[in-house]
Amino acid sequence: MNSYKILALIGDGIAYEIVPEAVKVLTAVEKKHGLDLELVGPYEFGAKYYADHDMKQGWSPEITRELLYEVDCWFKGPVGLPEYLGKLPGPYLPINQRLDQDLYANIRPCRLREGVDGVLKGRTAGDIDFIVLRENTEHMYVRVGGLFSRAGTTELAVDNYIQTRKGCERIIRRGYELALSGAYKGKRGSPRDGKPRLTVAAKWGICKGDALFKAIAEELEPSYPEVETEYSWIDAWSYWAIMRPDHYDVVVMPNQYGDIMSDMSGALQGSMGLAGSINAGDDYCYAEPTHGSAPDIAGRGVSNPTSMILSVGMMLNWLGDKNGDKRLKDAWMSIDAAVNTVLREQKVRTPDLGGSNSTVEFGDAVVAALLSE
Ligand code: IPM
Ligand code: MG
Repeated sequence: MNSYKILALIGDGIAYEIVPEAVKVLTAVEKKHGLDLELVGPYEFGAKYYADHDMKQGWSPEITRELLYEVDCWFKGPVGLPEYLGKLPGPYLPINQRLDQDLYANIRPCRLREGVDGVLKGRTAGDIDFIVLRENTEHMYVRVGGLFSRAGTTELAVDNYIQTRKGCERIIRRGYELALSGAYKGKRGSPRDGKPRLTVAAKWGICKGDALFKAIAEELEPSYPEVETEYSWIDAWSYWAIMRPDHYDVVVMPNQYGDIMSDMSGALQGSMGLAGSINAGDDYCYAEPTHGSAPDIAGRGVSNPTSMILSVGMMLNWLGDKNGDKRLKDAWMSIDAAVNTVLREQKVRTPDLGGSNSTVEFGDAVVAALLSE
C-alpha cells in the first residue's frame, strides 16, 4: 500500500486557526479510507515568523528547499501581513514556489453550495459551479522588470508581461481536461445546459500575450470536440460571470486576470472563506486558500476553515490522479460531501455565513460528518 508524505505549513493571521482544522480533517479521512499519510509539520512560517526571527532566515530551519521536493505534496495557510509588505526576503515567498516547482495550473472552483446564501438575486445552489483556471507561471507574475532612477528618484517602473507557447498550451489543455472530467466541480458541465464548456478569457485585441493565448486555444480546439469552446474578453467576462454564472463550466485565463477573478468568484460562492484552491503542476502540487491572512479577524477563532479544508481535499485528488490511487480520489469526494452536509444542515455556521460558531466547532462538524457517512 502506498504511503504519502504531506507537509503542512501554517502562515500568518487566520492560518493559525484554519490549518489545524485541515490537519484534523486529513487525519479523519486517513482513518476512513485506510490511507497511510505521514504528516510533516505543521511548521510555522510567514511574515510574522520572518520578523520574529530577525529576518535572517526564510523558511523555518525544518523546512528545507529539498523537503518541498521530497514530500508528495504540501499545503499552507495564507501568508502575509500589511506591516511586512515589501519587507520579506523575495526568494522565500511561497508564491515563488509556483515557479520553482512549475505549478502551472491554479485551480479555483466557484460553487454555490446548499445552505449558503448567494449574493446574486435568484441564484441558488446548483446555479453556480464553475472553475477559474488561472495560468500560474507567466503573465505579469514572472517579475521580470525593474526600476529606472535618476538623481535618486524613481522615475519609471517596468513589468514585463510574458506568455509562452508552452505556457499557453499546457494550461488550455488542462482546461479541456477539467471540462471533460468534471473534476473539482459539484457536477460535470455547465449548470445551465450540462454541456462541458471551456471559456477562454483574455484581452487579445490589446495584449500580444493574450493574442497568443487565444491563438493557441484556437489551435487546440479541434482536438476536443466534446467540449464547447468559447472566447470572451476578460472585462466582459467579469460582467457575464455575474449576469449568467450558470452558463460557465471551466474558464481559463492568464495569471493576473485569474488572481482578480478568483477573488470575485469568492463572492459568488457566498464567502471568501469557502474558496479553496490548488497550485498543480505535472509533478508537484501545493494547496492553499484563495484568500489572504485576514488580520482583521485573526486570533478570534471565528474564521471559516472551509477554504483550507477543501484545498487539502483537492490536493488529495491531484495526488490520487498522479499515483492512480482511487482511495485518495475517494478521500476528496468524502471531504467535499462532508462540507456539503455541514453547510446544508446550517447547524454549525461561522460568522461569515451568518452563524456564531467557532472555527474549531466547524472543523469538528466536518470531521463528524465525514466519519458518519
Ligand atoms: C493569490 C494571492 C497571491 C497572488 C499573492 C499573495 C501574491 O493573491 O494566491 O491569489 O497574487 O497570486
Ligand atoms: Mg489573489
